[in-house]
Amino acid sequence: MSLLTVEELGKTYNSGTKVLKNVSFKVEAGEFVSIIGPSGAGKSTLLRCINRMVEIDEGKVHFDHFDVGNLNKKDLRLLRTNIGMIFQHYNLVPRLSVIENVLHGRLGYKTTLQGVLGKFTELEKERAFFLLKKLGIEEHAYKRCDQLSGGQQQRVGIARSLIQEPKIILCDEPIASLDPNASKVIMDHLKSITLELNITCIVNLHQVEIARSYSDRIIGLKKGEVVFDGPSHRLTTDNIDIIYGTENRETRELITV
Ligand SMILES: Nc1ncnc2c1ncn2[C@@H]1O[C@H](COP(=O)(O)OP(=O)(O)OP(=O)(O)O)[C@@H](O)[C@H]1O
Ligand SMILES: [Mg+2]
Repeated sequence: MSLLTVEELGKTYNSGTKVLKNVSFKVEAGEFVSIIGPSGAGKSTLLRCINRMVEIDEGKVHFDHFDVGNLNKKDLRLLRTNIGMIFQHYNLVPRLSVIENVLHGRLGYKTTLQGVLGKFTELEKERAFFLLKKLGIEEHAYKRCDQLSGGQQQRVGIARSLIQEPKIILCDEPIASLDPNASKVIMDHLKSITLELNITCIVNLHQVEIARSYSDRIIGLKKGEVVFDGPSHRLTTDNIDIIYGTENRETRELITV
């Protein structure tokens, strides 16, 4: 069985427009998949359906042994400990230290009281330092997050998601706020650390060339529909034109330079 199976997924927000239409694909354990597509295509909505940040209207999402659309409160919490999330704007607590933010990734395993008291085990703290070291930001462990550069903050975000011991991480535009050098550092870390820890990774990206060079596979979304799904090296210029629409060719070329 695949780690993730999305079957004829449909989503309509209150506005009434159908944002995802009949979306179906599977992701195997260990795959590194990018989702590309124009703004508004439904990329973020798709990721949010996988961890139930938004409700699933039609179809099914199966992740591991979870039927994502039909979970009680306890299983929903369990699902979310199995899924790490990385966001464009990092979603850190700016006034807290790097190490505190990383340890926040363990809160899904704690009772409310343990969480409030900040009770973390020695093992959890060791793991946090191990991850910070892997990501090259160990020396910043006691700094406030708002004193770090964007690229460093995103590495804190990655450490926070990995300390959850997730089976998959979902990254929604992880490099959209970063310059090319910082973007490369983040993509290199995402690729190598997920490979090393055997974690599956789905990344929403606007940069087609980055998607092509880092992913095993690319899914192209257009107006809520999957219009490409295949190995990265099979993504042709024609496929890209279909995903983005030829009318957007100039914009796309600017984005991918
Ligand atoms: N919470 C919401 N309520 C109503 N409509 C929404 C909501 N979130 C997204 N939408 C709409 O759903 C559509 C898809 O949005 P989504 O954010 O999933 O696209 P996206 O591909 O991630 O775009 P971008 O590349 O700009 O991040 C858009 O038309 C958007 O306006
Ligand atoms: Mg989005």
